[in-house]
Amino acid sequence: MSQDNVAVLKSRLEAARAGGGAERVERQHREGKLSARERVELLVDAGSFVELDALVTHRCRDFGMEEQKVPGDGVVTGYGTIDGRLVYVFAQDFTVFGGSLSETNARKICKVMDLAVEGGAPIIGLNDSGGARIQEGVASLGGYADIFLRNTLASGVVPQISAILGPCAGGAVYSPAITDFILMVEKTSYMFVTGPDVIRTVTHEEVSKEDLGGAQTHAARSGVSHFEFANDAACLMGIRDLLSYLPSNNVDDPPLGRSDDDPDREEPQLDRLVPDDPNKPYDIKKLIELVVDDARFLEVHAQYAKNIVVGFARLGNRAVGIVANQPAWLAGVLDIDASLKGARFVRFCDAFNIPLVTFEDVPGFLPGTQQEYGGIIKHGAKLLYAFAEATVPKLTVITRKAYGGAYCVMASKHLRTDLNLAYPSAEIAVMGPEGAVNILYRRELAEAGGRAPEARAEKIAEYRAKFSNPWIAAERGYVDAVIEPRRTRPALIRALRQLSGKRQDVPAKKHGNIPL
Ligand code: HXC
Repeated sequence: MSQDNVAVLKSRLEAARAGGGAERVERQHREGKLSARERVELLVDAGSFVELDALVTHRCRDFGMEEQKVPGDGVVTGYGTIDGRLVYVFAQDFTVFGGSLSETNARKICKVMDLAVEGGAPIIGLNDSGGARIQEGVASLGGYADIFLRNTLASGVVPQISAILGPCAGGAVYSPAITDFILMVEKTSYMFVTGPDVIRTVTHEEVSKEDLGGAQTHAARSGVSHFEFANDAACLMGIRDLLSYLPSNNVDDPPLGRSDDDPDREEPQLDRLVPDDPNKPYDIKKLIELVVDDARFLEVHAQYAKNIVVGFARLGNRAVGIVANQPAWLAGVLDIDASLKGARFVRFCDAFNIPLVTFEDVPGFLPGTQQEYGGIIKHGAKLLYAFAEATVPKLTVITRKAYGGAYCVMASKHLRTDLNLAYPSAEIAVMGPEGAVNILYRRELAEAGGRAPEARAEKIAEYRAKFSNPWIAAERGYVDAVIEPRRTRPALIRALRQLSGKRQDVPAKKHGNIPL
């Protein structure tokens, strides 16, 4: 082997590792950001990363670019392991032309995406980029479209995770948007289609970058991001934690946990958690934590549409996706945002063989012109469609209210749910007692005059005795069993074991037409 060639190789690899140079890396650090390589090293198991295409350079001849070539061209790509499982990674290097996407840079990303799909391994994108490389024009735009196509084709085949660790603006946002999970870092990351300057010109609104597209905005307001972290390192650990609940692809099952939490553990606290007064709130997250292995619940979309809670946990060491109405926020009502949040999560779990556990305490859909004009009909239908379409094992526990259309929607028996349980405190009815009495006895109550309050109370009590319980549903087999709350964990774990071989189909079709 020629020593000259070895020397050239070494110097090129050194240039690739140096990225945009020490000064620009220093600037990243000053801004509280890690470099692309530091991020990859933290993300994957120590020493497992294998870099590909470290020597790729751009082909742009315009704007003096020929003299400015950095091996790797602004993105670090390759594969490694997380907890011993294969993952593919690309990390945009902001120190090289602002991490902007050139034709060759896009090809590198597409290469690892193709490998990930062929090999059935997750794709993790670490985004930190000024967007399309301005000097390359349409070649760069084409590169984005090539990535969008792959994001779409990979959807439902391998998990796709996007960390936003710096700028992500313009059309570039649509790659993360198609992926399954978006994680953002406070203060250093932002996402928007058009930035504050364009907005000022077009709509005369004044808004800061942070308010427009910072981590908090997308976690709590737009719901674009699923997780928010204080810094890069925490975000990268968050990706590792998230992956521990997910299978590598749509054929595999999620990895088993290693908990010693007794599968037959009864939890007496659960008998007292749901208040007797149906109008009194309680925290459904407390219930979830009492039921799942080691009280570990990875909440997704924690700050968005808090009236529904979604996230991952394990039961008897099997990963499950949990969907739960939250009586402590807007009484757990279903509105547009909650429907969207729930539907997307249900579809993710179904695509990736993650059983669904639903805890139901829902007074119905939120009334109001805002909701109706906003399309609660089509958005609520998404959640219904998602639950109905899902063929993974589905388990539902009605803890208290299951009123109206929301009863049907929340993984009811009628939607091919495998096990429907109810607590003795369950109330399954077309609507709450007050509303029902107003409709059924309007004339009688009007005629009762001064005695109306007592007559009303009597009718409400009568309605409650008839409908505010799980017995009629149990008699019809719409709930399979009424259980003492303390037995929730063993009941769910046994059902998951029983259903571990479940196979169910939907009619052959190209794809359904979910009401988007
Ligand atoms: C080429 C770019 C670049 C880009 C940044 N740089 N963005 N080079 N193409 N898109 C370079 C800068 O020239 C600079 O080079 C280095 O990256 C760092 O940029 P700074 O501006 O110094 O950094 P900062 O002050 O942190 O500002 C970051 C920024 C800003 C907000 C991202 O750079 C910016 O506004 N860039 C342009 C963003 C943009 O409009 N992109 C196109 C969006 S449209 P030196 O050599 O000085 O280090 C789009 C379409 C996608 O992306 C379409 C898909 C369908």
